[in-house]
Amino acid sequence: MQTYTHHNNELTLKQLNQVVHLKGWAAKVRNLGGLIFIDLRDRFGITQLVIKPENPFYEQALKIRNEFVLDIKGKVIERESKNRMLNTGDIEVDVTELSILNTAETPPIMVSNETDALEETRLKYRYLDLRRPIMQQFLMKRHQITQAIREVLVGEGFYELETPILGKSTPEGARDYLVPSRLYPGTFYALPQSPQIYKQLFMVAGMEKYFQVARCFRDEDLRADRQPEFTQIDIEASFVDMEDIQALIERIMKFTFKKVLDVDVQIPFIHMSYQEAMERYGSDKPDLRYGLEIFDAKPLLKGIDIPFFAGKEHIRGLILEQGASVTRKRIDQYTEIVKKNHGEALAFIRLQDGQYSGSIVKFFNENELKSLPIKEGNILFFVPGIFEGVSSALGALRIELANEFKMIPQDTYKFVWIVDWPLLEYSEEEKRFYAKHHPFTAPVDPEALRNDPKNAMAKAYDIVLNGYEIGGGSIRIHRQEVQRLMFDTLGLSKEDINHRFGFFVDALKYGTPPHGGLALGLDRVVMLMTNTTNIKDVVAFPKTQSAKDVMMQAPSDVDSLQLEELKIKIGEQK
Ligand code: AMO
Repeated sequence: MQTYTHHNNELTLKQLNQVVHLKGWAAKVRNLGGLIFIDLRDRFGITQLVIKPENPFYEQALKIRNEFVLDIKGKVIERESKNRMLNTGDIEVDVTELSILNTAETPPIMVSNETDALEETRLKYRYLDLRRPIMQQFLMKRHQITQAIREVLVGEGFYELETPILGKSTPEGARDYLVPSRLYPGTFYALPQSPQIYKQLFMVAGMEKYFQVARCFRDEDLRADRQPEFTQIDIEASFVDMEDIQALIERIMKFTFKKVLDVDVQIPFIHMSYQEAMERYGSDKPDLRYGLEIFDAKPLLKGIDIPFFAGKEHIRGLILEQGASVTRKRIDQYTEIVKKNHGEALAFIRLQDGQYSGSIVKFFNENELKSLPIKEGNILFFVPGIFEGVSSALGALRIELANEFKMIPQDTYKFVWIVDWPLLEYSEEEKRFYAKHHPFTAPVDPEALRNDPKNAMAKAYDIVLNGYEIGGGSIRIHRQEVQRLMFDTLGLSKEDINHRFGFFVDALKYGTPPHGGLALGLDRVVMLMTNTTNIKDVVAFPKTQSAKDVMMQAPSDVDSLQLEELKIKIGEQK
């Protein structure tokens, strides 16, 4: 099925004098001394067309404006002035037949790689934004990545199966998107936060190896790497342990990076415990492309009396080697970052031109300063407080500094498995446990869950690439009594369990095999593989940061008849 002879990136001197048939959009139209030049663009590239004054189609060509859709035939001729930037830069096509398939109004955004259009405008006219070659590249890569992952999974005997979108809430920790039921007024379906329960039921059903390119919906605060609806490569397998799933994901990554980017990824990936990641990098998704490690600074302060460090459980620090000349204003901004990320305060000491200075220098004597592990030009930051707050504050500062001081090597891919997760997290405020991953994650030892839930560990693993969590998974609970115990520990009453998960707990009674899996965040994988830091670039029709589709104007009012049918009354807006 091809109604033309070549794509617009293909023609070179090899096709000299051939008659070719091309289709595409007028990307640029120039009239130079009577000659009309048109850059004809399709999803692959650009071919220059030339129409001379004596051409019978000349008058028609004069009408062509940017983004007109054209169908041309013509002869490949050598260009006088070659364009080394283009694959087709040695030739042009002397048009012999021209048909304008459609006209176009002046587009509200420029269809070119460089754009200064506001994001709102780009999203409103997304179909034009997506016509920009760079955006087409993103989507083409997304396609290639999805296909490569599929190739590995299908090759290894996984079935690609679908699960419902209209279902019941799955506890992944975010707010659900709800869909009202017309037939049962007052009741709601929940859009899946992930296919977690369904995929486990596939294992109960004996499918053994499942995957899905699955849409997931989470009503949560958005960030540069989060969309309210996103895509997972959702995977589950029976009779496996953690190592089997990890090795599978490593094979997927190795194959996909080679096939799509021609990059060799070293496997196996390194493993790091959750605790170590928090200690050294202040994050459960550490970026290992650079050092700037966090350390215990308490030993450095032994015997030094600093009033606002007194009685603090932890004081941790990091050293920025080239940072001694950072301005007071920047340090105030760092302090803001520290506070926003649950740190109590930021203190510092620097050594510049042989002089120590900084917010806590006055508490040290000469010898104590000299024994600090900083050299000329360095700055040492300290954050006091409880472990979680100190870690996340220094973790955020670490990222800020690495970006500011250009410490992050490009085109480098550092994968790491984060392992040895606690099973539960205790909320002091609510006096209850939360599942660190989700409530179907198997404990390393069910007895620990029963006797010492605070210290119970999980058979869970996250895969992290360049500071982004690109996937998470676990071995699951496959015994009914353990699942009940888990729900129980999470504070669900018997009624809650039966109401929300009765069908699932029931299913576990009927010969559930041991099983486990993982879900890759496809959008994030594509984002990293295309070197962008904005997830919207790799989602065809994304939502804004405030969860709006500005092109379709969704969410939107619905007509009153629809509401009546659903027996829904809209209350007063506050
Ligand atoms: P989890 O919640 O960790 O696990 O999700 C898996 C991966 O999905 C990606 N992700 C997102 N991507 C874009 N926007 C979002 N809002 C968003 N939320 C998550 C992340 C994440 O690592 N059912 C489990 C998987 C399992 O246990 O098998 C789950 O959904 O890259």
